[in-house]
Amino acid sequence: MITFDKFDKNRYSQDVIVTDGLIARLYGITGDNVYLLPRGEKAKSMYNFARLCKWLVDINLPKQSRVVAVGGGSVGDVAGFAASVYKRGVNVLNVPTTLLAMVDSAIGGKTAIDMCGVKNVIGSFVNCNTLTDTDFLNTLPPRQIRYAMGEILKYRMLDENIDSVKGDVKNFVRPCALFKEKIVSEDRYDKGMRKILNMGHTVGHALELQYGISHGEAVRWGLKYELELSFKLGFASREYRDGWQKYFKGNAPRINDETLRLMTFDKKNVDGKVFFVLPCDGYKTRFFTADDLHGLFAEV
Ligand SMILES: NC(=O)c1ccc[n+]([C@@H]2O[C@H](COP(=O)([O-])OP(=O)(O)OC[C@H]3O[C@@H](n4cnc5c(N)ncnc54)[C@H](O)[C@@H]3O)[C@@H](O)[C@H]2O)c1
Repeated sequence: MITFDKFDKNRYSQDVIVTDGLIARLYGITGDNVYLLPRGEKAKSMYNFARLCKWLVDINLPKQSRVVAVGGGSVGDVAGFAASVYKRGVNVLNVPTTLLAMVDSAIGGKTAIDMCGVKNVIGSFVNCNTLTDTDFLNTLPPRQIRYAMGEILKYRMLDENIDSVKGDVKNFVRPCALFKEKIVSEDRYDKGMRKILNMGHTVGHALELQYGISHGEAVRWGLKYELELSFKLGFASREYRDGWQKYFKGNAPRINDETLRLMTFDKKNVDGKVFFVLPCDGYKTRFFTADDLHGLFAEV
């Protein structure tokens, strides 16, 4: 469940708060029940996960307590993973502090850490609720806002109501979060409907790995290429494709043999075939699998 409310750190004295040093400093989050992770992606290591688990054991957190994860997707992923295995699972309250976490990672209970250079390769599902306070966005650097715009574009391509949202970026938070919550509540374990949230991600993940660009940027370019693919395969009309083109200005990272190789490692792939969720007219999607990526991406 998502609640939209002000975050009051004093409400969580019976729980533990997991955050990072910057957020703790900006929002005065201190106390014996606060655990600080390193900032950003480097928090998502086996080392940091194990240290957090050790701390939970050291303080003997009761199984009825909650882990309150105050941060972006990185904090949420590590705190959520630790919470999902500590005493075979304690509840989590996600308090997202980045735009990406508000519209995406703090909802749905997926957790993960990276290993051997492979992103999100070890993870779990956890029981979580979400408390969203958009005031956290006031301190977020513009760069981090831009990073989330790829995910927000994905939601716009999936839902007409989100596409018609106007004005400040904060206006997108509630409809995107509620859209994701609805999808996830119907398919928690990614067996069917939830897969639509992967639109743009097959190409996007490969570009993210290859070029070291942010997840949001990669998803935006992923959407561009998957839209082209959808048009090439006859799933999307020319009019539809041209209508979305204005969101893809700039120099797209190029798809080459390495990009195609990386796509073959995608977690969504089935029976050795690469899985795509392609955008189609009328805010619809089409699932598509392919084994000949070279033929598919020629001239895309
Ligand atoms: N579990 C999921 O469903 C899911 C979905 C999407 C992405 N993710 C993961 O999320 C991660 C990226 O998360 P992110 O984009 O939220 O960034 P992040 O969590 O890596 O944080 C980026 C930086 O922003 C800072 N920050 C956070 N909130 C702030 C605030 N309010 N003011 C100022 N600074 C703030 C942090 O200290 C950090 O330095 C990736 O590892 C990705 O794999 C997970």
